Amino acid sequence: LSSGPSEEVAAELAKVSPRLTEADAFIVVTPEYNHSFPASLKTLIDWHNTQWQAKPVGFVSYGGLSGGLRSVEQLRQVFAELHAVTVRDSVSFHNCWGQFDETGALKEPEAATLAAKTLLDQLTWWGKALSEARSRTPYGS
Ligand SMILES: Cc1cc2nc3c(=O)[nH]c(=O)nc-3n(C[C@H](O)[C@H](O)[C@H](O)COP(=O)(O)O)c2cc1C
Repeated sequence: LSSGPSEEVAAELAKVSPRLTEADAFIVVTPEYNHSFPASLKTLIDWHNTQWQAKPVGFVSYGGLSGGLRSVEQLRQVFAELHAVTVRDSVSFHNCWGQFDETGALKEPEAATLAAKTLLDQLTWWGKALSEARSRTPYGS
């Protein structure tokens, strides 16, 4: 077994790192496979450490019956270990294959639009609060 990602994957991860460093907040989009999030997402998360610290994370999930919600609940535990704050509300799409038209637009967007507004409001509040706090006192100091 390899102890880390391949050179090719590491090169792709390195491209993302500066964007994570600059960001004040994150929205993680995840599907659900066998009641959990995909290994590729875990690799991205694990490859970074300080980038998540004292920043908020929101979730958009999709899948079959559960709409990816089990992935989200497991990801909350992962991000707690990385000193990130996960926001309560998320956007989820159950049976996602039936919810979008051929252009990729939602057939019935009302509920998801409302959920997205709630998620973004919470993420913005936490993003501003934690950005101010980090600039006053660097996290962990
Ligand atoms: C092997 C496999 C396992 C899956 N397990 C779940 C599951 O546990 N819960 C769920 O809601 N959907 C499950 N699904 C449905 C996927 O979440 C769905 O197909 C989703 O579109 C996959 O996202 P992706 O195509 O972006 O990778 C599963 C699909 C496959 C192929």
